[in-house]
Amino acid sequence: MDGLENVVVAETVLSDVDGAGGRLVIRGVPVEVLADGTPFEATAWLLLEDLFEDLPAEGKFAARLGQARAEAFAASEPLIGAVASLPPVDAIRALIALLPDGHELDAALRLIAAPAVFTAAVLRVRAGEPAVAPNPALPHAADALRMMRGEAAEPAKAKALDAYLVTIIDHGLNASTFAARVAASTGAGLGSAVLAGLSTLKGPLHGGAPGPVIAMLDGIGKPDRALAWMEAALDRGERLMGFGHRIYRVRDPRADALKRALLTLSEAMGRRPGRLALAEAVETTALALLKRRKPDRALDTNVEFYTAVLLDALGFPADAFTCVFAMGRTAGWIAHAREQRMSGRLIRPQSRYVGPAPKTAARSSSPRSAGC
Ligand code: COA
Repeated sequence: MDGLENVVVAETVLSDVDGAGGRLVIRGVPVEVLADGTPFEATAWLLLEDLFEDLPAEGKFAARLGQARAEAFAASEPLIGAVASLPPVDAIRALIALLPDGHELDAALRLIAAPAVFTAAVLRVRAGEPAVAPNPALPHAADALRMMRGEAAEPAKAKALDAYLVTIIDHGLNASTFAARVAASTGAGLGSAVLAGLSTLKGPLHGGAPGPVIAMLDGIGKPDRALAWMEAALDRGERLMGFGHRIYRVRDPRADALKRALLTLSEAMGRRPGRLALAEAVETTALALLKRRKPDRALDTNVEFYTAVLLDALGFPADAFTCVFAMGRTAGWIAHAREQRMSGRLIRPQSRYVGPAPKTAARSSSPRSAGC
């Protein structure tokens, strides 16, 4: 009961996670099919289909999202300096909180656009560089990299980021999506749902794991040190970041999709980028070690392991990885928030009181509310 395992709290047409089979289906399409070249814009459109009456045709969605990036930038530009010293995920959360908390398509598009715009701006201002305005004509992933680096992204890197954003766009009722649906179920706006999702995502057991994956790889340093390093971590009672999952009892299919994106990037670059070679060796050692040390648990590689390696190879600093996760997942949160509002009730579970018995009888006149 502690973690609500196996409790179904919503019906959804958005995505299906098969933990035993290691499959993820988004609106009827396997994630590996989407990750193999479907642009982020087309995947976001697929998620939002039927959820907004005025959703533009698929062919016009990219232009609307580009326009929304420009609007998000204009709304936040004067404020970026005030938040740039915060950890990036807190900085973008503060900027998202200043966007209108509406229910309509324009609000949704600005929110989907915002993490890319705000992450790039915050990273640049933190580095003492001026923020770069969006180019609404570019694809979302290519523009995110351009805004961060101040120059056009190599096509192979833009393609790899696009594959990443698609791979993590939605994933059933994970903790942050549940939080977003709870917020939406109260009638709060889409901005509130996204903020609930982002605040839940940042924890290290959810979307905050990839930063520590890099710390682990750096701590290990060389493949021949992997076993001793990880044995010592487990002896201290620590978990190996990037392994294990609440739902998957086999390999997370998104780990494979991201590894494929990394191998495609390697081919384009003519070498294994970033920490990929070390990560492959560490993964092999970790899986064997977890099998030996936790024989009763099926612990396999999860999405965060190769997320860390890929985002590192694309030049994102480790403390901004959660922001990049939010660049993709915001579309999922919004789709779930809309679905919850359109078809669901207020989410209001019960708790069982196990505290001390009341010392005095409750006064019969004290007000009670079943809803709050
Ligand atoms: N390293 C070492 N041991 C792990 C582990 C890991 N990454 N993940 C789970 N375990 C162990 C726990 O210590 C626990 O063992 P115990 O019963 O002997 O104490 C047991 O496996 C719990 O397994 P399970 O029920 O499958 O895990 P969970 O549902 O409670 O936790 C996670 C799922 C994702 C929170 C967990 O696997 C984890 O913390 N992973 C590392 C963080 C991470 O990668 N997060 C990103 C998730 S996408």
